[in-house]
Amino acid sequence: MDALMNQRRLRGSRWIRDLVREIHLSETRLIQPLFAAEGIRSREAVPGLPGVHRETKDSILTQIDSDLEKGVRKFILFGVPSSKQEDSFSHAFTSSVISGIKERFGSDLFLFVDVCLCSHTSSGHCGVLNEEGDHLENDASVKELARAALEYAEAGADGVAPSDMMDGRVRAIRETLAEADLDRVVLMSYAAKFHSRFYGPFRVAADSAPAKGASPVKLKDRATYQIDPAAPADALASALRDREEGADLLMVKPGLPYLDMLVHLRQALPDAPLAAYEVSGEYAAIEALAEKNLIDAPRAHLECWTALHRAGAGAILTYGARFARDWIKKSEEYT
Ligand code: PBG
Repeated sequence: MDALMNQRRLRGSRWIRDLVREIHLSETRLIQPLFAAEGIRSREAVPGLPGVHRETKDSILTQIDSDLEKGVRKFILFGVPSSKQEDSFSHAFTSSVISGIKERFGSDLFLFVDVCLCSHTSSGHCGVLNEEGDHLENDASVKELARAALEYAEAGADGVAPSDMMDGRVRAIRETLAEADLDRVVLMSYAAKFHSRFYGPFRVAADSAPAKGASPVKLKDRATYQIDPAAPADALASALRDREEGADLLMVKPGLPYLDMLVHLRQALPDAPLAAYEVSGEYAAIEALAEKNLIDAPRAHLECWTALHRAGAGAILTYGARFARDWIKKSEEYT
């Protein structure tokens, strides 16, 4: 063996591996999603996502208390109102959850709030449907989204995160916030958000499957607004546009199947903070393998987070944020 060709020398012990490692996992880089559902008596487990619940306005505070103890400080809230409409949406429930959280925890945490209409609409779509029910009206949707973002910011949200994929929503939200003197609110855009099959468990938690319910609409899925997985140029253009329109952080979603998009974005926008969302279906896939004793779930999650960081994500949204510190500590016990 040629001594100069020896790559294994630097893999020889955990101490030397510590020194050559380029990624250091930490719960400080993670954002924990939270669901608050109106009209439920007690919290409900979300199928496929162990340790994740649809919380009540009160139980969410207990959950956050325990999360803070685990070192989690960043959250993204999904509010799920009980009544569904096609217009005149009310953001009162989500706003009251936000103010409840901020009254209790103040600046001990950073609270993003997801801005979308899919949990509000009877169709389950992310915007306002036209009368024929065959497409989403862009400008009417953007108007509603900006109104929601303003209400959330007024209720105390530290950041807003539009996930609807309408055109021009980042600019509209930025302008609306500026007019209300809410310039300090951070805007994290779901910029490269793909039309993915990996959102299944989330849609149960958020009661937001498209074309659900008794009166199914003509528009069956989200293909006319979310990005085609086969169109990376669209994702790049959308992200550049969102940055121009005033987004502070750009998100790629889902995570693992779209690592290449993180790399492209990092190259195109070296200065832009990037985030990646390990979405519900990705997370649940690992948990489902673990249930069959085919995988070590904690270490598999750590491996995926490492990959997301490696590809360029500074921040990661994951349902496992609240377990991260324990998992990372445990992984240090391995040789
Ligand atoms: C809403 C939204 C979705 C997710 C976040 N915001 C689902 C969708 O677009 O249907 C998915 C998150 C996850 O799967 O964990 N627009």
